[in-house]
Amino acid sequence: MRSLLFSPSLMSADLLNLAKSLEDVAPVSDMLHFDIMDGHFAPNLTLAPDTVKAVRPATSLPLDAHLMVTTPERYLDQLIAAGADYITLHAETIVANSFRTINMLHERGVKVGIALNPATPVEFAKEYLPLVDMVTVMTVDIGYGGQKLIPQMLRKISALVDFRAASGAKYIIQADGGVNENTCEEIAAAGADALVIGRGLFRTDMPIEESVARWKALRGER
Ligand code: DX5
Ligand code: ZN
Repeated sequence: MRSLLFSPSLMSADLLNLAKSLEDVAPVSDMLHFDIMDGHFAPNLTLAPDTVKAVRPATSLPLDAHLMVTTPERYLDQLIAAGADYITLHAETIVANSFRTINMLHERGVKVGIALNPATPVEFAKEYLPLVDMVTVMTVDIGYGGQKLIPQMLRKISALVDFRAASGAKYIIQADGGVNENTCEEIAAAGADALVIGRGLFRTDMPIEESVARWKALRGER
């Protein structure tokens, strides 16, 4: 597989021993992914801005806060203060404030990610995609770890590669959901630059050391 960036999804980490989990996955961590949900936009409750704040002093890796909430504007100050490097907003939630929000975050020194739900086409966000730093393609419906990759999303990843070339945009393309050792090759081949990995890394069927070793091997590392 091409050498993609890996972003472990901490929602699936050992929350009782989060510090140890971070150490365990450090060899395959280029960024850390925080799923923040409100029980409305996404049908679950998971991590929070305070989780980002708690992890910040423990690492110098970029922290990506993936906001799956109906009113993301409410949490931006808190996330910036918590030390998030990337704030990933769902395109579906910033229809009334997209340019204002993206510009404000950039002015405050935060990188901006845009996430697209599986049913949301690239065209929906095309007016502002050239402004953002990362586009996260939801490769499952939001809410839970351990779901199966939706195969149609591979086309969306490729469409984002084409749009980037045609528009001169500079975003990195990240896949989020259903990434595991069986699906990572096709996601990489479609053109993704980064992978969020939850249950495919924090596995229930093998010790974490073994799982980390397998992901290292997939990237051609020892
Ligand atoms: C889903 C979240 C994902 C989730 C992915 O709503 O946005 O980040 O953690 O989990 P896996 O990798 O297990 O599909
Ligand atoms: Zn996520």
